[in-house]
Amino acid sequence: MIIKEAKFVISNTDIKLCPTDGKPEYAFIGRSNVGKSSLINMLVDKKDLAKTSGKPGKTQLINHFLINDEWYLVDLPGYGYAKASKSSRHQWEKFISEFLTKREMLINIFVLIDSRLEPQKIDLEFMTWCAEEQLPFSMVFTKIDKLSSSALQKNLAAYKKEMLKYWETLPPVFTTSSESQFGREKILNYIEQINTD
Ligand code: GTP
Ligand code: MG
Repeated sequence: MIIKEAKFVISNTDIKLCPTDGKPEYAFIGRSNVGKSSLINMLVDKKDLAKTSGKPGKTQLINHFLINDEWYLVDLPGYGYAKASKSSRHQWEKFISEFLTKREMLINIFVLIDSRLEPQKIDLEFMTWCAEEQLPFSMVFTKIDKLSSSALQKNLAAYKKEMLKYWETLPPVFTTSSESQFGREKILNYIEQINTD
């Protein structure tokens, strides 16, 4: 898919203020600092469309970006940020779970996972929640430029093994690097395929 245009539309914590034009939405979620905002920039090939930071907790709001005037990429705050206060964590849960469960045009949730880590309880719990809520999701292993291909294969296999303990089938799996743009075409083609179906 060719990205002709990518523009910021709105940021908020209130799903009633999110766009209501019926265009399909694709959301990006995962632990703080996993690379959600960087992945969005990589997909649209723009450096600063979504704000990124070396420090976790940068994205705090629901951010809608309109692509080719046809569909939205949605950048979300991360979970598992150790320094977040209890009340802000509670707020997070409330508006994010509302967004994820109530948006009729939310077509797919990309759950980002740091490819350098062993299976993390918090990610497995989040995906279990998505499955329980019957929310369609895919797994995106990020930052693959930071490890060898053998280490990556080992970590992917460990995740798959862990998930197959609970589920019969696995969701679609992508591997990405926002540094090298690895995985860009696969994700864009996946979105295009769903949009044209
Ligand atoms: P929050 O908004 O805080 O939840 O974080 P986020 O998930 O949006 O992460 P963000 O995109 O801000 O990236 C966090 C850090 O990881 C930044 O320093 C990025 O430059 C770095 N980063 C993100 N993706 C990659 C990648 O694929 N490779 C490498 N080497 N670094 C990456
Ligand atoms: Mg972010």
